[in-house]
Amino acid sequence: MELNEVLLKRRSVRKFTEEPVSEEDVLKLLHAGMSGPSACNKTPWEFFVVTNPEILEKLRKAARFSKITAPLAIVVCGNLSKALPSQLSPFWIQDCSAATENILLRATDLGLGAVWCGVHPMKTAEKNVREALSLPEKLVPLNIIHIGHPSENPEPRDQFSEKKIHFIK
Ligand SMILES: Cc1cc2nc3c(=O)[nH]c(=O)nc-3n(C[C@H](O)[C@H](O)[C@H](O)COP(=O)(O)O)c2cc1C
Repeated sequence: MELNEVLLKRRSVRKFTEEPVSEEDVLKLLHAGMSGPSACNKTPWEFFVVTNPEILEKLRKAARFSKITAPLAIVVCGNLSKALPSQLSPFWIQDCSAATENILLRATDLGLGAVWCGVHPMKTAEKNVREALSLPEKLVPLNIIHIGHPSENPEPRDQFSEKKIHFIK
């Protein structure tokens, strides 16, 4: 698919068939994620690929707006031990967000559906995900991306707005 088509076609998909996502596609998604930019190229990300039904159920319940049934979840975590020092450390959030968007776009490109469900900075959700995945202290879960073959197809949407543009000439 052409890039501009992917950009407009990417919508949050929250309903999926039971068909599993192939291992080949999972690797393509992760490849896309790790192709993203990161501050000073620290790549402070870790990806937990979950297909275990019990853990998926825990992730479903982990955050208030994460109650989505999908055959696959990728939990994107920031690795604080790889993040930049002191006040630059929060750049891990932007790094992991760039990786997340790349995964969403690649999912669209592959004909899959996906939705980004926020975790960090919601403390209870973070704790729930941390417990579900037995995460070490140094890893902070940024989000849960639920992924699968879509059983709903939201229309492509163009949100372009001139009002949000500020040309400085
Ligand atoms: C940081 C972030 C957190 C989000 N958290 C959730 C969530 O918890 N549950 C959910 O269903 N969608 C979540 N979304 C998806 C947004 O609701 C969605 O992107 C927005 O409504 C625009 O719709 P679109 O993705 O179809 O363009 C989140 C998106 C972002 C970027």
